[in-house]
This record gives sequence, C-alpha cells and structure tokens, in this order.
Amino acid sequence: MFASAFFIYTMHLDSLKLTSFRNFETLQLTPSAGINVLHGKNGSGKSNLLEAIFVLCLGRSQRGNKDGDIIKNEQDSYRVEGTMHDGDRSIEIAVAVMRRGRKQITINGVKSKALELYERFSVVAAGPEDSEILAGPPSVRRLFLNLYISQQSTKYLENITKYSRILSQKNAALKENIEFDSYNYLLAETGAKIIIARQLFLKTLNKSAGSFYSKFSNNGELDIKYKPSALEEIEFEVDESRIKEQFEARLNEVKEQEMILKTSIVGPHRDEIEFDINSFPARTHGSQGEWRSAAIALKLSVYELLKEKRGFSPILLLDEIFAELDESRSAAVIDSFNDLGQLFLTTALEPPARLAQKALYLNIDSGQVEVVR
Ligand SMILES: Nc1ncnc2c1ncn2[C@@H]1O[C@H](COP(=O)(O)OP(=O)(O)O)[C@@H](O)[C@H]1O
Ligand SMILES: [Mg+2]
Repeated sequence: MFASAFFIYTMHLDSLKLTSFRNFETLQLTPSAGINVLHGKNGSGKSNLLEAIFVLCLGRSQRGNKDGDIIKNEQDSYRVEGTMHDGDRSIEIAVAVMRRGRKQITINGVKSKALELYERFSVVAAGPEDSEILAGPPSVRRLFLNLYISQQSTKYLENITKYSRILSQKNAALKENIEFDSYNYLLAETGAKIIIARQLFLKTLNKSAGSFYSKFSNNGELDIKYKPSALEEIEFEVDESRIKEQFEARLNEVKEQEMILKTSIVGPHRDEIEFDINSFPARTHGSQGEWRSAAIALKLSVYELLKEKRGFSPILLLDEIFAELDESRSAAVIDSFNDLGQLFLTTALEPPARLAQKALYLNIDSGQVEVVR
C-alpha cells in the first residue's frame, strides 16, 4: 500500500488497560503493531485514548493538562497500564495518579522515574491542538521543545528538571526578600545547557520542517527563529561558557526589577520561538490552514529526527489529521512518514479505504471500544 513505507516493528504497544482515565471507566485493548484506526463520533474518547498512550510512554500528557484533569470525573485516581514490546523483550508499564497524591510509575513492577520511560520509549503526537504551537501562547511552544528534546536526550530533561527546581527556590527567595545571587549562578549554569540544546534542536528542525512545509503548501516558506530570553544578542554560537556569562550578566541587569516584581523574568522559562510563514510571523499573520500545515511539518520533522537519534520508530499518534486536509493531502502526509512503526490514527469521518484495509479497525463510542476488523 504505502509505496515509501515499510514497517519495522521494533518498539510498540502490545496491550493497554485504562482505569478511570477521562471518559473511560475501564478499557482493555490489544492494538496492532502496525496501523490502528480509531473511528468514532465527536466526544467519544478518541483524543483521550491517544493521550493515554502518550501518558503510558512518557508518564505525562502531551497536552498541557494537569493530572487531576485526566482523572475521570468523580473518581479518585487514574491508572494506565500496558505492555510495551521492545525488540524481543516485553516491558510492563503502569502510570497511576491519585487526586491528592504523587504520580507512581512502575516498570516491570519496579518503582521508576519518568526519565526511565524517556530512556526506553519514544512517542510523537500530532493533532488539531498543534496549531497552538504556531498561534498560541509561548508556554505551548516551550512545552513542544521540552517534550521532544527530552526524547532526544534525557540530559536535557534532567537539566529542565534541575532548572525548574532552582527557579522555584529563587522565586521563593524573591517573595521573602532574601538573598538570591547564588541561585542566579546556578540558573545560568543549567540554563546555558538548555539554551544550547534548544538552539541545536531548532536549527535542525528549521531545515527539515521548512522542506516538509514547502511540500504541503505549494512552496510556502517556514522559518523558525529561536528567541532565548536570556540573551540580548542572538548569536548562534555553541559555546556554553559564553552563553553562561551572558545569561549571568543579564540576570544582574534585571536584579532590581526582579526584586520589585518578586519573580524571575529572564531565562529559558521565558524563551520564545518565532515561526515565520512567507516572511511574516505566523502567530499574527498566519491563516488556520497555514498553521495546520506548519504544525504537521513540525511533527513530521520531529518524528524523523527522533527516529534517527533513537534508531527505532517512535509510536505515532495522529489525531484527526484528515479533518482539515483533502484526501490527496492526507495521503501525502501519511506517505511522508517513512519507516512507520506503530500508528494510532483517529477519525470522525470514514478513514481513507487504503488505510483502513491494512489497519486494525476500532470503533469507539462513549468510552467503549470494539474491534470492527
Ligand atoms: N476527566 C474527565 N472525566 C470524564 N470525562 C471526561 C474527562 N475529561 C474529558 N472527558 C470527556 O471526554 C469526552 C471527549 O473525549 P475526546 O477524547 O476529546 O473525544 P473525541 O476526540 O472522540 O472527540 C468529552 O465528553 C469530555 O466531557
Ligand atoms: Mg478529539
């Protein structure tokens, strides 16, 4: 069927079990290692099911949501369990969250950190909410960076975690009017590593997303510009010590201001990415169609980058990508994913026949899933 795609079933989800996850009371599913089509009307739980798979892979939602929002209304906890097949091994994962407790992740029954999930698995999610990466608030763009750079390098995830911890300590010190210089030093040190990682990621992404975008948009141009808040001049130089010095100098400059505002105003937690479409900022000048095409180009690029970096195909979650694309464009998008591994694809419309033929076809209605064929 897909001329350009052959299937390598290295890492995939073998079984999935949900308890009190959003609109699912309980759900048990044995997906195909190849294509899975989830067909059902709006509100049936398609996006929620994709979210559950993401949570199982990385221990968190790809949406900016809090865990408390994910727990089924009026329940006290959710649980996502599954068996991941990795080469010739089977790995049991469970992610459980209590409404007023901490998240519990276990791998093969052993209590584990999310970091260990990032080390083992990889997942890329694309859907209608991705337009927010182009048009939404900066926090969406930072989440995008964090989710996908962390899958390339767990060092990055460690740095983000460390940076956030220091940042909360500094903010607490600011609120209490106590000395915070030592935090600035630590922020600059960890922040420089984050800035470099983001620079490199966006530079690579810019090249590949640009070429995908041109393909999906009749030669439109997409340009990605990193705007690190800690650096006044955006010299793209990969010298950690220079970036650290500049960041620290900037922190000194804004010291008084931060004392007045009682919060930290420069650093990777305030970084921006500017997406230009045909030389104008997409956020203010783009159309919805341009945002959708650019978002798909971004996710395709991320998929390719991760596959290359990790040496296996990430699990791919495509939410309603046909809704706003005509059939030939949808086919072009699907065909663009080379060496497809496991794919979960949702649609409220009839899926394209050539896709449905080879897929495990599931019908979903009010949180119930049945295998059609
Ligand atoms: N925490 C929750 N508890 C119960 N139901 C929820 C929760 N979060 C979302 N829902 C419900 O899930 C449904 C939407 O599911 P969704 O996966 O977005 O549907 P689809 O993608 O098929 O259109 C809505 O009816 C919504 O009310
Ligand atoms: Mg949906």
